[in-house]
Parts: sequence; structure tokens; C-alpha cells
Amino acid sequence: YNLTKLTTPLLKWFHAHARSLPWRDEPTPYHVWVSEIMLQQTRVEAVKGYYDRFLKCLPDVKALSECPEDELLKLWEGLGYYNRVRNLQAAARQVMEDYNGIIPSSPKELLQLKGIGSYTAGAISSIAYQYPQPAVDGNVFRVITRVCADDSDISKPAFRKRVEKALREVIPEDAPGDYNQALMDLGAMVCVPNGRPHCEECPWELMCESRKAGTQLEYPNKPKK
Ligand code: ADE
Repeated sequence: YNLTKLTTPLLKWFHAHARSLPWRDEPTPYHVWVSEIMLQQTRVEAVKGYYDRFLKCLPDVKALSECPEDELLKLWEGLGYYNRVRNLQAAARQVMEDYNGIIPSSPKELLQLKGIGSYTAGAISSIAYQYPQPAVDGNVFRVITRVCADDSDISKPAFRKRVEKALREVIPEDAPGDYNQALMDLGAMVCVPNGRPHCEECPWELMCESRKAGTQLEYPNKPKK
């Protein structure tokens, strides 16, 4: 992969078209963390209201760590996957104990917290701390495999490693959070999974290998078992 040429048009597109999302107003580590956990299995539109209410009731790590379980589950009611919020609270308690209430910034430390995997660690460290770490999820797999016409089997663990490595080489030092969120927005708004991708609106239209071949919908390649 050489993703070098993609960065400038992507950031330019993001600055013009970024979605306005509540967790982008004030991207503190806590705000980014809560939003990313909510967004793991729930759509952006559904998350918005829950996110605002959750933060009103539990404005910081300390409040979250001390919240009674019944209240916590009430705040999450309707979002489903309740282990997400149980892990979130367990991790908040870890942060209170081990880090004096300050959420750590490095992916390595973040990965030690309950419920935080490589995607979430990358999102928190890049968006809240400007740490040059990719945040690779299914949207990023789709966008990257399409632009490169890469038919690798994305269900293989080695594939994530390869994409992370390629992105780490080009992620801008001065805007890693924007870069990662630009990939997410491109996947959500332009390079969409279902129906037709909106290639005529894409900043990569003329560089996209699958667009040139007319094979966008063949990616990502996830062979049936
Ligand atoms: N999906 C998950 N995290 C997101 C973010 N920070 N911005 C947009 N979409 C997302």
C-alpha cells in the first residue's frame, strides 16, 4: 500500500463536510471514550440522545466510577449490549485507582482497560490526545480496500495489522484525530456499504482503483466460510 497521496484531499474534504456530532464539540478523553463505546454497536443517529443524557448524569470518570448499577443500566436502556456499560464502569474504576482519574493517552495503556480494543484505543489516543495512531474499524476496511482494489480476506487478523501499519506511515502528526474521523465520515457518507457509493462526491474519485475498474461493490472481500 502507498496511501501517501490520499491524505491531503481527504483532510480537505473533511474540513468541508465533517458531520457535526455532539462528541466533536469538546473532544475530551472522557467524551471520546463514552461516544466510541456507544458507537461500537449502535448507529450514530441513535447514539446522539443517549450520549447527551449520559454526560449530563455522569459528567466525568469519577461520577461514572461511583454510579449505582441500576442507574447506570437505566442510562443505557435501549442501547443494548449491556456488557459495554459494565465494562465502561469497571474501566472507569481502574482509571480512578491506577491513574488518579486521568484517562491514559497511549494505545498501550488504553488497551489494558476493560472494553477497550485496538480500534477504541486508537480513537481515544488520536482524537483526544493527538497521538498518531490509526483507528481501524469496518468502515476503514471498506474505504481502504476499495481505494486500493485490495481483495485480501479482511477476516484474517493479519489484514488489520497491515492496514494499521500502512496508515501509521501516512497519518498526519498534526491532525491524527481529524484523519481518523475523516476516514469514518467518508465510509459513512460517501463510500457507503449498501447500495451505490457516492463516488462523484469522493475526494479520491480519480485515484480510486476500484472506481476506475467499476468494481467498488466487490470490496471489502469477506469470503463466506
Ligand atoms: N463512528 C465511530 N466513531 C466515530 C466518530 N468519532 N466519528 C464518526 N463516526 C464514528
